[in-house]
Amino acid sequence: MNLASLKDRCTSKNLMSLPITDLFQPFRLGPLELANRIIMGPLTRARAGKGDVQGPLNAEYYAQRASAGLILSEATQISQQGKGYAWTPGIYTDEQVAGWKLSTDAVHKAGGLIYAQLWHVGRISHPSLQENEKLPVSASAIAPQGKAFTETGFVPFVTPRALETDEIAGIVADYAHAARCAKTAGFDGVEVHSANGYLLDQFLRDQTNKRTDRYGGSLENRSRFCLEVMAAVCDVLGSDRVGIRLAPVSAANDISDSDPWGTFSYVVEQLNQFKLAYLHCVEGQTIGPRDIPEGFFVKLRSQFEGVYMANNGYDLELALKARRENLADLICFGRPFIGNPNLVEKLRTGEPLLDAPRETWYGGGAAGYTDWPA
Ligand SMILES: Cc1cc2nc3c(=O)[nH]c(=O)nc-3n(C[C@H](O)[C@H](O)[C@H](O)COP(=O)(O)O)c2cc1C
Repeated sequence: MNLASLKDRCTSKNLMSLPITDLFQPFRLGPLELANRIIMGPLTRARAGKGDVQGPLNAEYYAQRASAGLILSEATQISQQGKGYAWTPGIYTDEQVAGWKLSTDAVHKAGGLIYAQLWHVGRISHPSLQENEKLPVSASAIAPQGKAFTETGFVPFVTPRALETDEIAGIVADYAHAARCAKTAGFDGVEVHSANGYLLDQFLRDQTNKRTDRYGGSLENRSRFCLEVMAAVCDVLGSDRVGIRLAPVSAANDISDSDPWGTFSYVVEQLNQFKLAYLHCVEGQTIGPRDIPEGFFVKLRSQFEGVYMANNGYDLELALKARRENLADLICFGRPFIGNPNLVEKLRTGEPLLDAPRETWYGGGAAGYTDWPA
């Protein structure tokens, strides 16, 4: 590690009070030895091919970013029903597994590690993305505000169909199947996406969950689906290769809860039973301001008996502070990894970061994807 240049950077940014950090030092995560504490966040880039299969271009993209302590893959649907955007990858067919194997092999060859983020979007979808144009599903039949991203452009969301009680076991089985596929595809572990207003979050929060069966109402009931998924996925991979992402105070995808602290402190306490690899939180509004109720994530972290990964709006300064004050074990960067494949090195040396324009985020080919200078 280049301590001298980091010191210079701290000095130049008037951060002299910061001690030399362990941000760039190895970290043990379950059975894995991460090269550093900087995590590449899950980033949907909407560049999968026919059959929602990833190919060599995606492998090149991930391999370019292998110096992250750990890469979290873009959100990856566990079934056709779980799909909500054009050109996102799946992880439930043999072709999809073979496609992902190109990425995991390339990342491992480049010395990196990669988890798959498992995703079911629930109501954040559109019939045109579903098998036989079926309605998307959710906890309750409540339409989100906003528009779905389909192959023909943005179209208003529709009112989803509320899942029948006896359908839920089938979706839990889909998560387990996807976890098995991730293992076969060579991923080092999986992150269950229970954030940002997607299906599991739709069950957790009381604005979207108006059910009266054993999956709705009390906290215990609203958490049941998420915890069943965690149990099933841990069964497949071993819990030390499973993480979870939550976004307790984010309104992403038109979601809210009347008591975020009550809901998520309960969920986190329940998660302790699994001894997961980590808890990953989007702190504040996803891709938006870090407007966080006083002490929320400090308290949440203290309730979790394991590794805490923090995300949202982190830069070097905030990451150093988080480590100095021990507010997080791992720091996850999203957007900065798009335009800076060698983000870890740039943070270490103080090289200025490139800002990837929004037009390059979703869809297209190599331009704005694999052509950033390393
Ligand atoms: C282009 C783009 C795609 C994203 N895709 C995902 C995703 O697939 N899964 C997810 O959990 N979050 C996704 N996010 C959110 C990021 O993981 C992260 O939470 C957010 O960008 C805030 O972190 P940052 O300030 O470091 O960028 C995405 C964000 C962006 C900008």
